[in-house]
Amino acid sequence: MSSRFTRLALVVLAAVSASCHHGGTPQTVDIGTYLGGQVSLAEATPVFGAHGMVSSNSEPASAAGAEILQAGGNAVDAAVATGFALAVTYPYAGNIGGGGFMNIHMADGRNAAIDYREVAPLAATRDMFVDPATGKLTDKSVIGHLASGVPGAVAGMAEALAKYGTMPLSAVMAPAIRLAKEGFIVDSALFRSLRGNRAVPQFAGKALFYPGGEPLQPGTRFVQAELARTLEIIAAKGPAGFYSGEVAEALVEEQVRGGGIITMEDLRRYKPEWRTPIRSTYRGYTLLTMPPASSGGITMTETLNILETFGPLPRYGSAAYSHLLTEAFRRAFIDRNAKLGDPAFVKVPLEQLTSKTYASQLAASIDRNKATKTPAFKVASEPEHTTHYSTADSKGNVVSTTTTLNGGFGSGVWVPKAGFFLNNEMDDFTAQPGSPNMYGLVQGEANAIVPGKRMLSAMSPTIVLDKDGKVLLVVGAAGGPRIITATTEVILNVIEHQMSLADAMRAPRLHHQSLPDTLRYEAGAFSDAVADSLRAMGHVLLRTSGLANANGIMRVSGGWIGVREPRSMGASVGH
Ligand code: GLY
Repeated sequence: MSSRFTRLALVVLAAVSASCHHGGTPQTVDIGTYLGGQVSLAEATPVFGAHGMVSSNSEPASAAGAEILQAGGNAVDAAVATGFALAVTYPYAGNIGGGGFMNIHMADGRNAAIDYREVAPLAATRDMFVDPATGKLTDKSVIGHLASGVPGAVAGMAEALAKYGTMPLSAVMAPAIRLAKEGFIVDSALFRSLRGNRAVPQFAGKALFYPGGEPLQPGTRFVQAELARTLEIIAAKGPAGFYSGEVAEALVEEQVRGGGIITMEDLRRYKPEWRTPIRSTYRGYTLLTMPPASSGGITMTETLNILETFGPLPRYGSAAYSHLLTEAFRRAFIDRNAKLGDPAFVKVPLEQLTSKTYASQLAASIDRNKATKTPAFKVASEPEHTTHYSTADSKGNVVSTTTTLNGGFGSGVWVPKAGFFLNNEMDDFTAQPGSPNMYGLVQGEANAIVPGKRMLSAMSPTIVLDKDGKVLLVVGAAGGPRIITATTEVILNVIEHQMSLADAMRAPRLHHQSLPDTLRYEAGAFSDAVADSLRAMGHVLLRTSGLANANGIMRVSGGWIGVREPRSMGASVGH
């Protein structure tokens, strides 16, 4: 195994040893890593809210959003409250030291998307992660100070609130500040994420998260005084409280101490970008999805456009359906990996890739009985540590947000005095064309490192409107490239296979990302006989557990239902 995957190996080993241990600590709940995890069907029980809904990977964070809805806030106020609360209660992926994408649909018909993806620092270079002596990739894009892009989360959430929210930042941040200051009860999810990622949180953060060298124990209260103070500064000063002044100085001081390259000038320059959501259709439904710097919207649109050309699809679980889905994903990911990047730096052929004509051409290249080959290679299993949350209010405004540090606890670098983890998003760039990143994605020049450039993302916060233009679904996922396939599959399960949202979320998933040329599937996705048929068609199958981590909301008569990912942790809280 290459040094690049050392961290992953440590995570896997920790999880294996955890799952073999059945001593003192109750082993009742699994976490979002899915390492040894299992789907509990009961966990996909839908929650009803007559007035609004928040669905996320953390119960206190969903409750924070619901508290804001209850106080009269709209879905954007609730989304920003949930986002800041996740930074406190779900430090694994929730963040102020990372970035994300928020997709907004207002009941008055306005649609907006905000891109607060991290950018490469000004001192970044194309080959900064290649060892000049060996020409091989190092693991510095994954772990340590060089791995971080300039964080965008605070600027993005504040900007979204200012434009579409109704409450001041200090009001929507109040629940997060309370959770940091007064603490919250550590659940087995946080405990297990710490136990499973022992090798990641490094430097000063180790002392806080591993008191006495052991992970925070379930049932104990976890107070984050430094983070509380940082949040109070942001609540009082807005983004300036993060991108300048003492918080920024603490971040840069830690970068300098550890050999990182983010400077005060990088922080001063950071700006979120408003984008026009990609608007596409599938069987008469409208999808509002995220454009670049995320690849999510284009790749989902391309996949669904290809599938639409086949008329009603074969039934879920059949060899014919699994084959068509795989071949559509394969073609969409081939384009994604080669052609997409930050639109400020590369010309993205968005119109072409999302056109129905182009999809028909791609569909014509699919042999319904035979897999199309893409060159295979071996890749270590990847982590999935992003988080998605959805909010809806009584007026019909909805928000779909995905945010991340990239890996669990990001780069492992924690900012002393300010109390938060920094991302390792630099690994989402093409660190070396032709070499896989930690998700096994083999990408091209369009996504090469350039100072100030956004690294290509797979985050796919999506809103689906029904044939009358009313919100049907608010959905997205965590899981690197598996975000795209899982979000697409939840949507297909609802629209094509007529499943309830709970069933759509429970349904075992498939994943194919063109390279490696492997069809990954969860147990139960199809029968052994279907697996044999797929092999006979030429597919290389790999059974895996926990493909992605989605959270969704669906509009129903009289209100909303929320369903949190049954494979992971979290809660939907209605109002
Ligand atoms: N860091 C995972 C993604 O943005 O796709």
